Amino acid sequence: MTVNIALLGFGTVASGIPFLLKENGAKIISAANTDIAIAKVLVRDEAEKNSLLAQGHDYHFVTDILDIISDDSVQIVVELMGRIEPAKTFITQALQAKKHVVTANKDLLALHGAELLKVAADNQVALYYEAAVAGGIPILRTLANSYTSDKITKVLGVVNGTSNFMMTKMVDEGWTYDEALAEASRLGYAESDPTNDVDGIDAAYKMVILSQFAFGMTINFDDVRHEGIRHITPADVKLAQKLGFVIKLVGEIVERDSGIYAEVVPTFLPKSHQLATVNGVMNAVFVESIGIGEAMFYGPGAGQKPTAASVVADIIQLSHYISKSETAPAFNTFVRETVYAKKED
Ligand code: NDP
Ligand code: HSE
Repeated sequence: MTVNIALLGFGTVASGIPFLLKENGAKIISAANTDIAIAKVLVRDEAEKNSLLAQGHDYHFVTDILDIISDDSVQIVVELMGRIEPAKTFITQALQAKKHVVTANKDLLALHGAELLKVAADNQVALYYEAAVAGGIPILRTLANSYTSDKITKVLGVVNGTSNFMMTKMVDEGWTYDEALAEASRLGYAESDPTNDVDGIDAAYKMVILSQFAFGMTINFDDVRHEGIRHITPADVKLAQKLGFVIKLVGEIVERDSGIYAEVVPTFLPKSHQLATVNGVMNAVFVESIGIGEAMFYGPGAGQKPTAASVVADIIQLSHYISKSETAPAFNTFVRETVYAKKED
């Protein structure tokens, strides 16, 4: 048997998928109980299609989403275009056509996740998005599957690879802000418009998604106070160092009696804090809970192969259910209705 997937977009992350499918073929067949094939790839226009074909990419490229939506042989749609539209419309159409969807699009999940998950549930298909938070770290699945016996009280995260990479290069190697941002873009870490990376918006999106998995509830994006690294000066960094601190862009979600609260701010961390050692494109999510206690999950937060590895893990899991003709479970089943979330006063 073969499960057919279709890729929407063929940029940094999507173009890493063929490598992993090829390199891990036997393991994937064993885990998924089926072969997995890239049946179609949606690209923007004929010029991009011709350019990719000329580069030796031998796929069935299409430029009209309906070529994928109306194709009954495509069972999983993998959205890797980014931003809100047309990604939201294409994902909705795919779910309504009873195709499972995998995405790494945190903007979309943070702002419209509830709506999309309802469309998925209404159509008895699943929407998986492990890569949307902390790239290569399997944090969402870990929170969903391995914390069922525990109660999380706090989550701290360095979850934007671009800004952490930039700060590391500026502090350790004296790069300018512009040099560091240009290199983060060249390496495929930054968003196509890096505003969200440097202004703390991308990390705030990730706090919204983490709140659902760690606390079983959604905090509205508008209630996540966020500030980025744009205004950090060399003087700030030097002062921090003199006092025995490092500055990191840290996201925090805490539960209090009245609800959960999240924020993303450049933070003075004592050099001895575990998160202070997270440098470059690496991310870490630090979880406090009443059972496990303190745990930290560390790994690459961005980049082609780490992110593609998370995407392919979602594809494999869905393929397994397809191969067994079983209903794929929702990605996150932890939902508490009674607790509210808002901005900290
Ligand atoms: P890229 O910008 O490298 O790739 C996106 C691709 O999609 C581009 O080739 C783009 O074309 C194409 N595209 C955009 N709109 C359309 C459209 N309407 N039809 C067809 N193709 C389209 O992004 P990434 O691969 O870096 O990121 C993809 C997703 O993964 C994003 O949601 C991102 O936030 C997320 N992500 C990325 C990580 C990373 O390390 N890069 C890590 C974790 C998540 P064009 O260039 O012409 O716009
Ligand atoms: N631009 C994002 C980052 C990609 O740098 O963290 C991973 O979500």
